[in-house]
Amino acid sequence: MTKRFIYLLVTLWVSASVVAKEQAAVAMPDKFSADVAKQILQQGGNAVDAAIAAEFVLAVTLPEAGNIGGGGFMLIYKDNKSDFIDYREKAPSRAHRDMYLDENKNVIPGKSLFGPLASGVPGTVAGMWLAHQKHGSLPWKTLVEPAYKLANDGFVMPQALAGYIHRYIKRIEQKGLKLNFANYFGSAKTGEVFKQPELAATLARIRDQGHDGFYKGETAKIIAQFMQKAGGLIHEADLAAYQAAARTPIQKDWREYQVLTSPPPSSGGVAVYQWLAMYQDLTAGKQTLAHNGVEYIHLLSEIGKRVFADRAKYLGDPDFVSVPVKQLIDDKYIARRAGEVNRKQISVSKDVKPGLHESEETTHFSIVDKWGNAVSNTTTINLGFGSGVVVEGAGFILNDEMDDFSSKPGVANVFGAVGGKANEIQPHKRMLSSMSPTILLKDGKIFMVTGSPGGTTIITSVYQSILNAVEYHMTAQQTVDSPRFHHQLWPKDTIRMHAGIDQGVQSKLSEMGYKLDNRHFGDLQAIINRDGQLDAASESSGRGQSYVF
Ligand code: GLY
Repeated sequence: MTKRFIYLLVTLWVSASVVAKEQAAVAMPDKFSADVAKQILQQGGNAVDAAIAAEFVLAVTLPEAGNIGGGGFMLIYKDNKSDFIDYREKAPSRAHRDMYLDENKNVIPGKSLFGPLASGVPGTVAGMWLAHQKHGSLPWKTLVEPAYKLANDGFVMPQALAGYIHRYIKRIEQKGLKLNFANYFGSAKTGEVFKQPELAATLARIRDQGHDGFYKGETAKIIAQFMQKAGGLIHEADLAAYQAAARTPIQKDWREYQVLTSPPPSSGGVAVYQWLAMYQDLTAGKQTLAHNGVEYIHLLSEIGKRVFADRAKYLGDPDFVSVPVKQLIDDKYIARRAGEVNRKQISVSKDVKPGLHESEETTHFSIVDKWGNAVSNTTTINLGFGSGVVVEGAGFILNDEMDDFSSKPGVANVFGAVGGKANEIQPHKRMLSSMSPTILLKDGKIFMVTGSPGGTTIITSVYQSILNAVEYHMTAQQTVDSPRFHHQLWPKDTIRMHAGIDQGVQSKLSEMGYKLDNRHFGDLQAIINRDGQLDAASESSGRGQSYVF
């Protein structure tokens, strides 16, 4: 090879990597947030700037899950370092362990799900503020302004959202619930401009005063006065005391990837890693299983039984309980748990013990900037439209996240998840979550950014998206749209399943004894980097929008 030829090759390689580095991508749950995230990146903002701007936009245009009245987790990979912003809600100081039980110690249905008593102290504004302080590059005001404009000037109501709002109003009426949701959203009409003046005023205070524009002064006063009038628990001292936390993400190798995922108070990161690692133990050196075939679904369901038995026993807020994360993802422990899997038959659910001695909503987005930084962010007010309560005078919906605590040991929450002492209610404690924003690195570079809503099914959407991309080499669109299935120990031997899984496979699973529950779950937003070329996709069943640019 001549020197000139080598020089040419090197020049081509360098310019190719420069082009790859210049590429950015967003995978967002709606078009408004996608447009704003893209605009912030094109303005020179980084992935965290785009995430903060998008988070506020979603509080306006995706009210079923986007929020300033809820919380979430932001996983960041920036300048070759990882960070995790925990902005999960906390129990108010006047909350107590038995607050959802009647005099006979039975759980009162709906009390932790609807109305002002269902809400934890919101964490979103504090989380965005902390993310901005640590990683932001554009001014805070620039990042909140697009959301303010959409609330103040209005946005054109999408058909899917209008339909969702009116179905929800009908549902709360049918349940006989006295909630003020319809006063704020009842006028929503497809194709018409929808304005939210009270929310706009709140966003203006957040834009101008930052963190304190929500947790102190006017907004805090409005929230506390409304809570007092409506019979809720959150008062001004709870808001003033709220702090988002920066935590160390779970980081562990899996195959040739480094998995970065969510630590407690999420159960999701431990669960995603356990699922991937047991799968790897059980399939290593064997022929790849047929995707969504009987053996694949049974094996992953068997693993799911163990994952959820551990979740129920050990996972909770690490500021209150000691969570044995290291042991739960330890290689030897994983191998032992994988060894308990019955390859041929369904393990008896009640015999699967912990191994060591929602309509559901939430929303997720994934962003990669031109410098190769990434954000994987999941945010929630729990069920669609949260508690159904809008803070009068401040215009935002409050979460019903208190249902993610274990109201009573062994009694399932709305997602069918059981828990015990580790996740019992205590003042200022964070309720356990399944949100699992996850990033996979390969050789120190982003390979995949993924996440989804869906309560406990989040964990499944995330780990199956990783298997789709890694084991089955799918494109981003195939990765998010490929039918998924979920098993979580309880209800007994029940597999929840998307449409599209082969009928013959379904019949064989039924013959094995599985009960099949054909209901869709999740709304994956994924970005995959294949050799420097970004590929982004939003799950087709949702309102998502992705761009690579
Ligand atoms: N609210 C759903 C979750 O955090 O898991």
